[in-house]
Amino acid sequence: MKNITLTLLLLVIIFAFKSDRDEEGMFLMSHLSSLDLKKAGLEIDVDEIYNEEKPALVNALVRLGGCTGSFISESGLIITNHHCVFSSVAGASSSENNYLENGFYAAKKEQEIKTTLPVRITQSYVDVSEIVLADISETTDALLKRDIISDNIKAIVEKEQAKYPNLTVEVSEMLVGKSYTLFRYKTLNDVRLVYVPPKNIGKFGGESDNWEWPRHNGDFSIVRAYENNMPYQPEAHLEVNPNGTKEGDFTFILGYPGTTYRNQTAEFLEYQNTFVLPIIADWFDFRIAAIEEFAGANVDLQLRYSGRLASLNNTAKNFKGKMQGLRRTDVLVKTYQDQIKLAQYVASNKEMSSYLPIFKQNNELYMRKFELSRDFIYLNQLYGNGIFGGAAYAALYASKIAEMSKEDKASYLAESKEQIEKDLSGYKGVSSIESMELKLFCELYYQLGQSSLPQINEIFNAENGSIDKESLYAAARHIWYKSKLKNIESAAELMTKDLDKFLKTKDAFITMGNKVNRVFSEMQVEMNVLNAEIDALIPKFNDVEMAANGGDFMPDANGTLRFTYGYIKGYEPEDAIALKPFTTIKGILEKAEGTANPDYFLQNEFIEKLKKIEPADVLRHPTDKEVVVGMLYNMDTTGGNSGSPVMDSKGRLVGVNFDRAYTATINDYAWNESYSRSIGVDIRYVLYVMKYFGEADEVLAEMGVTL
Ligand code: ARG
Ligand code: GLU
Repeated sequence: MKNITLTLLLLVIIFAFKSDRDEEGMFLMSHLSSLDLKKAGLEIDVDEIYNEEKPALVNALVRLGGCTGSFISESGLIITNHHCVFSSVAGASSSENNYLENGFYAAKKEQEIKTTLPVRITQSYVDVSEIVLADISETTDALLKRDIISDNIKAIVEKEQAKYPNLTVEVSEMLVGKSYTLFRYKTLNDVRLVYVPPKNIGKFGGESDNWEWPRHNGDFSIVRAYENNMPYQPEAHLEVNPNGTKEGDFTFILGYPGTTYRNQTAEFLEYQNTFVLPIIADWFDFRIAAIEEFAGANVDLQLRYSGRLASLNNTAKNFKGKMQGLRRTDVLVKTYQDQIKLAQYVASNKEMSSYLPIFKQNNELYMRKFELSRDFIYLNQLYGNGIFGGAAYAALYASKIAEMSKEDKASYLAESKEQIEKDLSGYKGVSSIESMELKLFCELYYQLGQSSLPQINEIFNAENGSIDKESLYAAARHIWYKSKLKNIESAAELMTKDLDKFLKTKDAFITMGNKVNRVFSEMQVEMNVLNAEIDALIPKFNDVEMAANGGDFMPDANGTLRFTYGYIKGYEPEDAIALKPFTTIKGILEKAEGTANPDYFLQNEFIEKLKKIEPADVLRHPTDKEVVVGMLYNMDTTGGNSGSPVMDSKGRLVGVNFDRAYTATINDYAWNESYSRSIGVDIRYVLYVMKYFGEADEVLAEMGVTL
């Protein structure tokens, strides 16, 4: 590993430095007034978007589970993505009543189906950095520093929560070790399904099209939020503009982007590129294949695993996109270059000399992290995986239980029991889960058998010391067959009836689990220290960056409310390929007709309907007269922005964001106009599907749309 970094370091010294910073923009509400949005194309006042005094567009925004949504009526209707309610719809479906397959519409409120999705609305926020960072300056111990910060946060939240018992209070880290903001949210725990298109509209193109442009799916759904069993009345809701937009139009997005890593060091990117991305992408592919084989043609099993499969597929493809991006662009090298430039700046400024050691310290911490990472990632997957993982995990906590007070022990056991029951409930009525579980266990055993760490080797090597697949699979099978826990019924009995007894069982899983636990606990401790020390350096890197390049620091996405703006715009992602910014219904037919790919399957009656419908004129693209389906734009979004409203220059709803293009997946590390494009479903297709496929006239009327 050292070699890679050294080569890179040498390489970058030869390169000429570029001084321009990429333009990016997940702006905080407090940044809005510093942007020249009028010049960019906004036709309303900034205080109509965000206003501390009176309701503005942001008050129509919600965080819906891990996604975003926006109110579109005064009675709590919310528009979000189909994939954001996918698991809820699958959960409400069965082979007889398959809403996922056929779609769902509640013309009357009594017919709406309750979900477990929570909705959050940002009420207000305040900077609490000073209190969070009080009394950390004396300590140089990184772990202690981290603990003080988290204790301070806990205390602030407790105090604030007591003041506002009806709100959800959270402190978000805006800049590691530097800037913290307290957010107050209103939480509604009653969200009901109102309109969901059939899966082959909502997820048309499936995994084949996921993270790709051009796109032809209607990835939207409508839900309603309730409070005290009454439709919730939001402070603001969005007006729908059925005319949509045209190429070049100014647009903006408000939403809750989840996580970006733009303020991290080059070593962090290398860690992602060398470990996290390839290992997880491979492992998820393996899991996907095992689950698909297991579920086979059984519709109920397919429904049960549909959400899990969607999320495994989604992450695996995203990670492959990131690997391609890092391979094709100079993001990694450039981040190293920028870092070296900073080091040179520090070296040439006497008053900054105290910062000089951070470059070497950071590199050394990562070098050690790299040594552990491969096995650490696989071990984490082992714990997260199936019966063995559950058994090992429970055993991992055995020692902690022994040290607990009586009350703590009782509540811990109760909690564990609940968790295990929940885990196992997924297996109820499934007799041959073993075929899938055993396969995954063998593969993880094999991967860990490849380890170069002696402590891991000792556990996962076949008896003869061979590390070929055959013998490691055989060793894993041996443990598997010796364990009674492989039988779900007896595992359930052991794990739920008497956890104490379970932890002391002489079972092959528990015995092996205990060995793994010893090694894993040690690694966990070391990783914790490494990560805390790495984190403690980040604010220093930020100081240097600020001193060298000046200006404001844009906090990484962290699930808090953000604004981004840009234009409806195509791009040229690959050699000889130029992509336009709109897709139309014509493209749905091109994909669906005469293909063997099940992702593009459309029933004949759907195809006939698409051909026959004479849509309202307003829904047609003004020049080519087709109904627009998908839209592409150069705004800055990431996971969590799903379901975010795309708004026009007057703040009206013209689309719903749901994805990024393949080349844009690396914008989590670095946004760039040349490869970053995000994808939404055009409002014209939303209305088209609701009107002509869903016949959802009541909801359209509630949204104030007449067609
Ligand atoms: N790629 C989009 C997002 O990141 C859509 C995901 C939908 N899920 C899927 N497996 N196709 O969430
Ligand atoms: N589909 C993503 C989500 O669920 C949004 C797309 C992205 O990651 O940019 O939030």
